[in-house]
Amino acid sequence: MKKYLTLNGEQFVLYLSEKKIQDRVRQLGNQINKAYKHQTPIFIGILNGSFVFMSDLIRHITVDCEIDFLKLSSYGDAKISSGNVKLLKDLNCQVEGRDIIIVEDIVDSGLSVDFMKRLVNQHHPRSLKIISLLYKKNALKIDVKIDYIGFSIPNYFVIGYGLDYAQKVRNLRAIYRLADERITQRKPA
Ligand code: IMP
Ligand code: MG
Repeated sequence: MKKYLTLNGEQFVLYLSEKKIQDRVRQLGNQINKAYKHQTPIFIGILNGSFVFMSDLIRHITVDCEIDFLKLSSYGDAKISSGNVKLLKDLNCQVEGRDIIIVEDIVDSGLSVDFMKRLVNQHHPRSLKIISLLYKKNALKIDVKIDYIGFSIPNYFVIGYGLDYAQKVRNLRAIYRLADERITQRKPA
């Protein structure tokens, strides 16, 4: 696994190795298996970023489960997460009376996840929890509870394992962060 990557002239450094991620995803899966022992949860992934995490996570799930996806697009000042959220793909599952787990790659301002939560709640689930692989604890702009967190991280711009840099590098097995720690804002898509 490479320690450094250069993308568009910017240097990224290895932050969470493949092993570290896989160990944590397994732990999260086990935690969910225990909590949902007598239920059949529906995992709702937020496209595109969460597809890698979600596919690894559900392979650790041993209780019956279903999956669906929602797709959002965030507009506005490309350097920051704007919160102007638009729905690009709606739900294809019956949410009423079901146990829903929203799966996110990363929670930054929290606005996307809050939007999804409201949307799912309109369909009257029996329960609704949120899991996010990454959580930027100092970036939250809204009071939203994340029930399962993989890693709490500082305001780093991170890429890989589903997270993109101008739509690229989602296929990296590890997570890298910008080497220059002063640059903590989201890069233009
Ligand atoms: P929020 O609405 O501000 O919480 O933004 C959440 C979304 O912004 C995530 O689902 C990601 O798609 C994207 N995002 C936030 N921070 C990063 C990052 O450091 N790298 C890549 N994408 C990010
Ligand atoms: Mg996302």
